[in-house]
Amino acid sequence: MRSPFLREATIEEARKELHADRNAIDSLDLGAGSQWPSGTVADIARSALKRPRHAQAIAGLCKHLGTNQALELGTCLGLTTAYISKNASAVTTIEGNPALEKRARLVWKQLNITNITSLTGNFDDVIPTLNSQQYDVIFIDGNHRGAALKRYIDLLFPQLSEYGVIICDDIHWSADMEQAWEELISEQRWTLKVDFYEWGLLTANPRLAPEFHCIRF
Ligand SMILES: C[S@@+](CC[C@H](N)C(=O)[O-])C[C@H]1O[C@@H](n2cnc3c(N)ncnc32)[C@H](O)[C@@H]1O
Repeated sequence: MRSPFLREATIEEARKELHADRNAIDSLDLGAGSQWPSGTVADIARSALKRPRHAQAIAGLCKHLGTNQALELGTCLGLTTAYISKNASAVTTIEGNPALEKRARLVWKQLNITNITSLTGNFDDVIPTLNSQQYDVIFIDGNHRGAALKRYIDLLFPQLSEYGVIICDDIHWSADMEQAWEELISEQRWTLKVDFYEWGLLTANPRLAPEFHCIRF
């Protein structure tokens, strides 16, 4: 069996290749934080992807939870998807920009990853087409607008498994996202709520007492 460190280094090799890729990607206006001033793969890889330690932390959480099914909103170039896929039985990921989805598929092919289902379209259009699958981890990393974040969570909550977690990226990215996060953590449906600054975690796991924590790493 290959070492998990070797697998992570391989994903980071793919990141290096993306950083060197000068091919243009047409940008689409899909929501806050989804447009870049210039459109090379390298520019997008530098500005939009989760940094290694955060992607690895999310992957570690998937492993700890024994994740069967994971869902990601915001594939981009597919690197965090790749990390999650190594620690879940299967991942479904949604991306609105077909050019990014196409480039992400190349990354997964290069990494020999076969447990990713990739869907293309606006989150609002694709979420209602998901089957009744239950997800153990839902990672929301696209369209960083407070109202959109809350809408996606409401749409997906019935598909969160009993012990599952929702990870909300960029909760402190704007005043609007801060307000949405504050409103979310005041909702009665959640038990454990954790603010990791770069992202927030919510779970309705009934085995946990209601608690809120702030952890910086
Ligand atoms: C921050 S990037 C995701 C980064 C990726 N999760 C990672 O860490 O490697 C956000 C992505 O969400 C996509 N996106 C933003 N709003 C969207 C929407 N409303 N519907 C579909 N995709 C959207 C953008 O095109 C962009 O590729």
